[in-house]
Amino acid sequence: MAKITIDGKEYTVSDGITVVQAAAEVGITIPHYCYHPALRAPGNCRMCLIELTLPGRPGPERQLAIGCGTRVADGMVVSNTAPRVKAARAMTLEFLLIHHPLDCPTCDQAGECHLQDYTYEFGNDRSRYVEAKQTPPRKQVGPHIDLFTTRCVVCTRCVRFCEEITGTSELGLIHRGGHNEIDVYPGRPLDNKLSGNVADICPVGALVSRDFLYRSRPWFLKKVNSVCPGCSKGCNTTVEFRDNEIVRIKPRYHADVNDFWMCDDGRYGYHYANDPNRLKSPMIRDGESLVPTGWNTVFEAIAAKIAELGGENVAILASAFNTNEELRAIGRLAMEAVGTKHVGLISQPITSEDTVYPKFVIEKDKNPNRAGGLAILGDVPTDEDAWALLDGAKGAVVFGGIPGLELSEQVLARLEALACLVVVDILPSALTERADIVAPGTAFTEKEGCFTSSQKRVQRLNRALPPLGRSLDEWTFVCEVARAMGREFGYLSVGEITDDIASSVEAFSGAGDSAIGSRGYVLGSGEPAPETMTGNDAYAAKYWD
Ligand code: SF4
Ligand code: SF4
Ligand code: FES
Repeated sequence: MAKITIDGKEYTVSDGITVVQAAAEVGITIPHYCYHPALRAPGNCRMCLIELTLPGRPGPERQLAIGCGTRVADGMVVSNTAPRVKAARAMTLEFLLIHHPLDCPTCDQAGECHLQDYTYEFGNDRSRYVEAKQTPPRKQVGPHIDLFTTRCVVCTRCVRFCEEITGTSELGLIHRGGHNEIDVYPGRPLDNKLSGNVADICPVGALVSRDFLYRSRPWFLKKVNSVCPGCSKGCNTTVEFRDNEIVRIKPRYHADVNDFWMCDDGRYGYHYANDPNRLKSPMIRDGESLVPTGWNTVFEAIAAKIAELGGENVAILASAFNTNEELRAIGRLAMEAVGTKHVGLISQPITSEDTVYPKFVIEKDKNPNRAGGLAILGDVPTDEDAWALLDGAKGAVVFGGIPGLELSEQVLARLEALACLVVVDILPSALTERADIVAPGTAFTEKEGCFTSSQKRVQRLNRALPPLGRSLDEWTFVCEVARAMGREFGYLSVGEITDDIASSVEAFSGAGDSAIGSRGYVLGSGEPAPETMTGNDAYAAKYWD
């Protein structure tokens, strides 16, 4: 640790970090644009200027230093508020704003814009510049990203992201001096699978995500911490929502999982949760049609059908999109109420390899909880082997919730041969078309519970929106079916199931509800992942998450 003084007060901060990061550790803002702790620091914006007194020197250095390029040293003295620091920042802002349009009323970034915030805090209240402003054009630089070129402060964060994180180098600087512009190279759009991150790292409203453009002012959004269901990596995310609709998903910093980033499939893959065709009511088959009905009718019909067919003749297929807690309840339903050994885990099949960038890997397993499913249900059949459990079965309860799941002709034939098919799902599909009973379940944004990543990290999802219409949490549905069959599980909350998993499933020993903090719990580690507020964690908490 290093002892440094900022504005007359002594602090103990982590060794080897920049002054910008050290200030974040102790809750002090040093304004900056070009610096990002995950990228090289070129020191080009000059917004982070500080007055520096080096250890052993009688007074401040003659020139101001950049806080992003200066590492802390024991005994260092920093002034973040000296008059010449304030004057330098005001001048920097005046330069940055020379060509900047007065776009705040229509800019997507307003409300979460560092140019707006720092101008308010450190800038002048008027411009002395009376000449014509440059007006370079708005550009569509990639399938997901637009560039409002006039708003760019040429910090080059986006260029460095494409050089250092993805290694794809689609973005570059064209023209010289005051005519500098960000652009893509001819014929090479910004189409790497991490492209959405450039909208997050752009400190102003220049790079914007078309998916979010003009959909909401950020101050109207509510947010919960969640986990991406797009693959087995388990990227930490923030789900932002408004008026019962998911509006944006952004990455949340986790040093050991996704750093500051997430992929475009995860970022833009949430739209199925907003689909107007979502199932909202339980339904029971009447001839050719599925007819809305009440939940009690459904629970009793399922219990009666299982009794009629014989529990041992019924297959239970859980989903690799179910949470750990849902899987535990489903496993108990199969073992303790239905009494079947035919339990499987359906999933998106693995059809490709990992997508590997220099500093980010998108995993090939497009299921968020295969690891949890196999650990909680036992080593049950998955993929095609899971569907094969339907051969010879008379009935089946199938948990779906897998967006875009495609079923082979063989699977469809197996489903049609069943005397009774119960489907728990969120959207109409080939499964629900063949179902005798349909129970509407929850999308990941409506779930509470945990996924277990491929790295065996148990991470918590928080509910953004309530189950849609008359839909039910899957675990509640399972408990009610068990109750209709005369078996009481006694769960009153998701946390109770998390604790039950920790005490009943050896691999989850220690991973009770209270042990799963914001950094998750790595199975077998014996303790919750430590929560720190130093270095990048402190930076992320102050400037990012
Ligand atoms: S587009 Fe944004 S991130 Fe890129 S250089 Fe301009 S201000 Fe910086
Ligand atoms: S890498 Fe996987 S978990 Fe991360 S954002 Fe992409 S799909 Fe989601
Ligand atoms: S943030 Fe330090 S020079 Fe840009």
